Amino acid sequence: MSGPRYRIAVLPGDFIGPEVIDATLQVLETLSARAGFTLELERQPFGGSALDAYGQPLPEATKQACLGSDAVLMGSVGGPVGDHPWNRVPRELRVESGLLGLRKHLGVYANLRPVTVFAGLEHLSPLKAEVASGTDLLIVRELTGGIYFGKPSQNTPERGLSTDVYERFEVERIARVAFTAARERGGPVTSVDKANVLDVSQFWRDVVVGVHRSEFADVELDHLYVDNAAMQLVREPTRFDVIVTANLFGDILSDLAAVIPGSLGLLPSASVGGSVSLFEPVHGSAPDIAGLDLANPVGTMLSAVMMLRHGLGQPHAATALEAAVGHALAEDPTVDLGGSRGTAAFTAAVIAALPRSIAPDAAPA
Ligand code: NAD
Ligand code: IPM
Ligand code: MN
Repeated sequence: MSGPRYRIAVLPGDFIGPEVIDATLQVLETLSARAGFTLELERQPFGGSALDAYGQPLPEATKQACLGSDAVLMGSVGGPVGDHPWNRVPRELRVESGLLGLRKHLGVYANLRPVTVFAGLEHLSPLKAEVASGTDLLIVRELTGGIYFGKPSQNTPERGLSTDVYERFEVERIARVAFTAARERGGPVTSVDKANVLDVSQFWRDVVVGVHRSEFADVELDHLYVDNAAMQLVREPTRFDVIVTANLFGDILSDLAAVIPGSLGLLPSASVGGSVSLFEPVHGSAPDIAGLDLANPVGTMLSAVMMLRHGLGQPHAATALEAAVGHALAEDPTVDLGGSRGTAAFTAAVIAALPRSIAPDAAPA
């Protein structure tokens, strides 16, 4: 086929990872054919399955393939929480360390996690419809620093130690991502920290204020402590537009925010700022529902939307896919949202909702 070709490194991962990836690739196959571009997919071992097969969660060949691609599309990795062979290995061989290693290797320091309640889908939220309605916020999570990476880090019989550290350049660059996004979206930035207790958070706040003053004075900025931010997020989500926060706080707040649209399975993410961008759902490998046709593939499909829009420059295909996902959710959502569709039936519904032709001037579905 003529038209642009893109090399996509595909990392299915573990448990429901391959299920949500297969669902998304099925949709992308139809979409790309109709939109006139080609995805060259290179499946790579990653996660617990790679640990079993190659003795490490992030094999060198996988790293190289990711670096040589136009974008990386990932499912999710990890084993069951609790006693499991993948949880009995040294920290550096853990599946989760493989994921941190991949993010660091690609240099993707900014993790964009949008949380949107699509119009007409308020009823999927466990919150009152009037609270959830209109939610459209973006969590900008710092991804390659903070307590996830700080040294020293230690676990001995007598002592557990992790270090939360941020360098000035790390806070400045994530603040710029957040302010730039807020300027485009026309909303305020809320910086979330724990500056009342932690020196690293006071530093974070001071640097964010400095970047704001010198480069983004036109954007509204406020600050919340993370405990209050968690409460405000579910009490009045529409008061937020862009939230910028450190690695660990962003991890926790984004799972919490998934409750607003109705399921962790809905949330997508894009990790940017490095040599190649990484697109992955917010959720984990959900071993409790793996193999049962219960995985909600929407988070991965919407990650593919972010990949098409921001990574590959295919905005019309992105919009068509997003609309088809919204249409399928409105008809009958997946089981986690109280609907009746399994992964396969939901995927078929998304494909059925794709427009026949996707050209720059094609009408939306
Ligand atoms: P999880 O996100 O896998 O699951 C939490 C809950 O949400 C479970 O009840 C699960 O069934 C449900 N859920 C998650 N995704 C869903 C989906 N798409 N559709 C329907 N329901 C869904 O979190 P966990 O149980 O704490 O962690 C399991 C494993 O995943 C661990 O090994 C953890 O380290 C790993 N993990 C990986 C990633 C990633 O790959 N990015 C993210 C988070 C957790
Ligand atoms: C996420 C996950 C990861 C994180 C883990 C699995 C390393 O929870 O992507 O949200 O904490 O970043
Ligand atoms: Mn997480």
